[in-house]
Amino acid sequence: MTDDTRKDAPPRDAHSGAAVPAPDAPAVPAAQGAAAQDAASRDAAPADRPRRNFYGRRHGKTLRPSQRGYLEHDLAELRLPGVTSAENPARRPLDPAALFGGRPVWLEIGFGGGEHMVHMAARYPQVGLIGCEPFVNGVAMLLGKIRAAGVQNLAIHPGDVRDLFDVLPSGSVARAFLNYPDPWPKKRHHRRRFVTPEHLLPLARVLAPGAEFRVATDIPDYVRQTLEEVPPAGFRLVVQGGVPWDDWLSTRYEQKALREGRAPHYLTFERL
Ligand SMILES: C[S@@+](CC[C@H](N)C(=O)[O-])C[C@H]1O[C@@H](n2cnc3c(N)ncnc32)[C@H](O)[C@@H]1O
Repeated sequence: MTDDTRKDAPPRDAHSGAAVPAPDAPAVPAAQGAAAQDAASRDAAPADRPRRNFYGRRHGKTLRPSQRGYLEHDLAELRLPGVTSAENPARRPLDPAALFGGRPVWLEIGFGGGEHMVHMAARYPQVGLIGCEPFVNGVAMLLGKIRAAGVQNLAIHPGDVRDLFDVLPSGSVARAFLNYPDPWPKKRHHRRRFVTPEHLLPLARVLAPGAEFRVATDIPDYVRQTLEEVPPAGFRLVVQGGVPWDDWLSTRYEQKALREGRAPHYLTFERL
């Protein structure tokens, strides 16, 4: 697929690569095409904004003109308003259900190329899905897929999910997906993983009691840390193993894992 913007990144730690020249010129730099997205996610922070390090990549390969067009024309309408500190310095809580006409709200953290998110939106039209992804190439890919699928029950935060957690009301999310989170394989980087209290406690707060939290990973040590850290944050393990959910759609990272001989592992938790 021509939209495989991250296949050139190191397979287990795609956090240090510089932009790669595009094979399909003419094209524009991702950073240029991402100006609107950046304005939203790298805002002028007020003094009381929590200091957060983000270690992932925000830009990858040069965007194709079509992708730049998606960002310029479609993102404004699909972007969830009031998430960034620039737009909402008082951090007033959002009303996500109102955005989706009272439908239950699901959250996908780090949607990558967006295939799982679009699949879920199409499969569950009675639900509203919010997706977070700071990697602008992924946002552009999702926008292309939304156009192709014609789904409308989606909203995007093109940035760090922690900023969204700040402004989501308690118990406002009915399901969350964490598909192939960045593995951070080096031991000294394990504290950067999503499955740490910094992320899990706010996630637990925004999930409703009984809400499902799904995690998919191909990294055995990530399974270990997930099993250790998720339950104390307010969850119980429902099931884990190598069999995916009935409604699962394999993601780009899962496909890569399978090609490289790693086995997927799926974990389902329930918010207590
Ligand atoms: C390994 S990729 C997996 C992408 C996709 N879920 C898949 O399965 O193909 C992990 C994704 O999580 C995103 N991510 C990392 N930290 C994040 C954060 N704090 N908030 C939202 N997304 C994040 C990264 O940008 C990256 O696209």
